Amino acid sequence: MIIAIDGPAGAGKSSTARAVAKRLGFRHLDSGAFYRALTYAALRHGMQPDTWDGLDPARLDALRVEGQPSADGFRLLCAGMDVSGHLREAEVTANVSRMAGVAAVRDWLLDRLRAASRGVDLVADGRDIGTVVFPDAELKVFLVADPVERARRRLVEHGRTQPDAVDVRAERERLEARDRLDSERAIAPLRRAPDAVEIDTTGLTFEEQVDRIVRLARDRAEELSR
Ligand code: CDP
Repeated sequence: MIIAIDGPAGAGKSSTARAVAKRLGFRHLDSGAFYRALTYAALRHGMQPDTWDGLDPARLDALRVEGQPSADGFRLLCAGMDVSGHLREAEVTANVSRMAGVAAVRDWLLDRLRAASRGVDLVADGRDIGTVVFPDAELKVFLVADPVERARRRLVEHGRTQPDAVDVRAERERLEARDRLDSERAIAPLRRAPDAVEIDTTGLTFEEQVDRIVRLARDRAEELSR
């Protein structure tokens, strides 16, 4: 069974997907982490973002990015080194949508993301999981939340206990700029799949949003077994 969770930046996809996977005993695939690992590796190799449009499969292979299956998900490696701790750095976040807009990058990753799903029950999150990567996913969820709430949560996640209005506004602008790039790009833009269940998490606690998806997944599994 595949559960696809898509949505805009900071809607809580990855943390929710991880918790849902844990509850159901599924593997978690954070597709954004792969785009982030490629971005980190390209920056480390001194490749300027304005040259990324010219990336081809051979140059992508040379970055040696791979997702190694771990107990419950995938560990992102670059040249054999675990880079998980670098994926949410500001420089990576600021440039990842540029990497994700390159057709050759999306092609290169598509095969790898699909290969990761073979033979396992999966909760995958990203922008195009229900539309492009796994269009036949048994359950599709589109997570949304108010932009101010998304910005506040993101700052809290980054260790700020009580973010002030100025910081929330700056974070909101960064999230919305990334949403624009992700929604307006030509290939695999951020879109709600027509058959996705939309969940607005603005007024929900984390536990509530996880519960809702777990319940949807159980209902779906029961429906499929009939
Ligand atoms: O966690 P957050 O919402 O900040 O983003 P993420 O899931 O880590 O994804 C980072 C970036 O990767 C997004 O802004 C997209 O540009 C890109 N991405 C994508 O294009 N397609 C996906 N399936 C997942 C991520």
